[in-house]
Amino acid sequence: MSGGNAWGSRLGIILAVTGSAVGLGNFLRFPGLAAKYGGGTFMIPYFTAFILLGLPIAYIEWSIARYGGSRGYHSAPGIFSVLWPRRISPYLGVIGLIVPVGIYMYYVVIESWCLYYAWGYLSGALNLGTDVAGYRNFFDAFTGSTGNGTLFAGVSPMLISLAVCYIFNFFFVYRGIAGIERISRYGMPILLLTGLIVLVRVMTLGTPNPELPERNVLNGLGHLWNPPQNVGLGESLLNARLWMDAAGQIFFSLSVGFGVIINYASYLSKKDDIMLSATTAAAGNEFAEVALGGLITVPAAFVFLGLQGVGSTFGLGFVSLPAVFAHMPLGQLFGFLWFFLLFIAAITSSVSMLQPGIAFLEEGLHLDRKKSSAGLLLLTSLGTLFVVYYSGNLEALDTMDFWAGTFFIFVLALFQVIVAGWLFGVDNVLKEAAEGSRMRIPRILPFIIKYVCPAFLALIFIMWCYQNL
Ligand code: PHE
Repeated sequence: MSGGNAWGSRLGIILAVTGSAVGLGNFLRFPGLAAKYGGGTFMIPYFTAFILLGLPIAYIEWSIARYGGSRGYHSAPGIFSVLWPRRISPYLGVIGLIVPVGIYMYYVVIESWCLYYAWGYLSGALNLGTDVAGYRNFFDAFTGSTGNGTLFAGVSPMLISLAVCYIFNFFFVYRGIAGIERISRYGMPILLLTGLIVLVRVMTLGTPNPELPERNVLNGLGHLWNPPQNVGLGESLLNARLWMDAAGQIFFSLSVGFGVIINYASYLSKKDDIMLSATTAAAGNEFAEVALGGLITVPAAFVFLGLQGVGSTFGLGFVSLPAVFAHMPLGQLFGFLWFFLLFIAAITSSVSMLQPGIAFLEEGLHLDRKKSSAGLLLLTSLGTLFVVYYSGNLEALDTMDFWAGTFFIFVLALFQVIVAGWLFGVDNVLKEAAEGSRMRIPRILPFIIKYVCPAFLALIFIMWCYQNL
């Protein structure tokens, strides 16, 4: 694959994986879910899934990627057939390519909202004063969620913004991933810095509306960390959908289970420390998610909106953050920076969703890069237009997000754990992981990979089917 020679350095790969991981999942999806369940309830399954599923499966992916890469394969179907040489194994890998392409089709819609908001701040259209109602109306109007159903009902600026997003995505896909490495290198630190400043502002908001004294930042923080007040914690933890959403969020956010890391990390060499790289990328992502995404958006949404939903998990940040910027010196600048950086973070994620597909078209079907990119461009644009025009309303976005971003990823992760942990063998996985690694492999890891991961995934899955079907 031509992207192969583009990898200048090992740091480049860590940056690209972190760029893939840090995205709208961290700043919009996570706060949306935490707010939906009440953070205190959400955090328990969330952290459990991080330790028992996210990290171990990330280690698996980095290891099998390098193993397959050294044998000349860079996409999940090829790598699966190296790990388990049966006729069916490449097909299991192919399912893994379809899911991220499916996610891309709606993810890019939300990405285009970020771009549109950045433009809105630049042009002054989003200087709507301190009343949050103005921002809610703005959001409702441009997403068409109050109107007759279509997301972008007749709003051509949105389609323009979507088209611009498509051009950027395919530019980077076509050019290979070196550009992504560069944007991550500069974009990520600026995002971090801006995030910290906005975080300070949110933490010092106090009680912006004296008529609603209970809507203060402390209570907002409490909402992220405290157990629920009205239902018992034990009872709410019996809900399988909560566990599925939490584990799904871990996969989605770490970009684990989608074949993305398998593709990126397949260009590493035996000298590279994959344990350390995997841990660094995962830790960086969690910091961005919990410390920035969560601590900024959940309290802000509590203070300004009383956490009343805005029609979609992804929508919360688009209504509450503008209210924060309205209470900030240089608010217009920060509003622009925030949404523009979200757009950058989203691009490095959405481009990564297409990489596994491109790698497969090149490797499995021997298409050149131009043809593979063009094919994928056509397919995904049709998909996105479908999302925009026929999906109806914002809830449809959440439904799609549940099936592609949560449900299927569960099935995929289960496949992967079985192929790697049982068919290829956990010892082989960890032998690969240990090579070049200065980090000690936790002694419990083989047990977690072989037994805990599949059992945990299967248990949640069966419980969910039992409760919902
Ligand atoms: N991890 C990205 C985010 O948090 C989303 C993503 C999902 C990227 C699947 C690649 C594959 O926004």
